[in-house]
Amino acid sequence: MANGEAVLQAILARRSIRRFRPDPLPREMVEKLLDAAMAAPSGNNVRPWHFVVVQDAGRRRQLSQVHRWAYMVAEAPLAIAVCADASSTEFWLDDCSAATENILIAAQALGLGGVWIGIHQSAQYQEQVRQALGIPSRYTVHCLLAIGYPAEQKPPHGRHDPAKVHWETW
Ligand SMILES: Cc1cc2nc3c(=O)[nH]c(=O)nc-3n(C[C@H](O)[C@H](O)[C@H](O)COP(=O)(O)O)c2cc1C
Repeated sequence: MANGEAVLQAILARRSIRRFRPDPLPREMVEKLLDAAMAAPSGNNVRPWHFVVVQDAGRRRQLSQVHRWAYMVAEAPLAIAVCADASSTEFWLDDCSAATENILIAAQALGLGGVWIGIHQSAQYQEQVRQALGIPSRYTVHCLLAIGYPAEQKPPHGRHDPAKVHWETW
């Protein structure tokens, strides 16, 4: 498969994976995910992101209790908290979202699975993550990612919806 096709395949096949095998991820794999994250575009190239890489089971258990849709962090061998220096740019949300999606696509390409867990929408969720991971108060917690070898299979959506596309004019 040509390289471009492989990238497209990873994008189209990606699904939210919430069941994981317990096997830890090799360090090189984690570094590749972080490479992908930091290759994302950012407004004015400010790159406001910080990443807290969490493998410790006790910390993951704490994170899994932040809200009811974060439970899978306890099972996944790797969690990443995506944080932002939001005072540095009005684009922090866009920038962190781009980095987060890059991680999910890279995970898919490496044979891993993952899920994006929303955090920034609630000051309380953010504070719980800050407390669990010792994140200084001036940083915004954008989201968590739970990542690992998948223990569930999901078919691609094939979700292209022509009704959402407006050619030339709406
Ligand atoms: C901003 C955002 C927040 C999300 N938050 C959660 C979450 O807290 N917990 C969860 O299990 N999934 C979460 N998801 C994953 C979505 O539920 C998922 O992407 C959606 O249902 C579509 O399924 P798919 O990713 O398999 O295509 C989130 C996704 C996005 C983009």
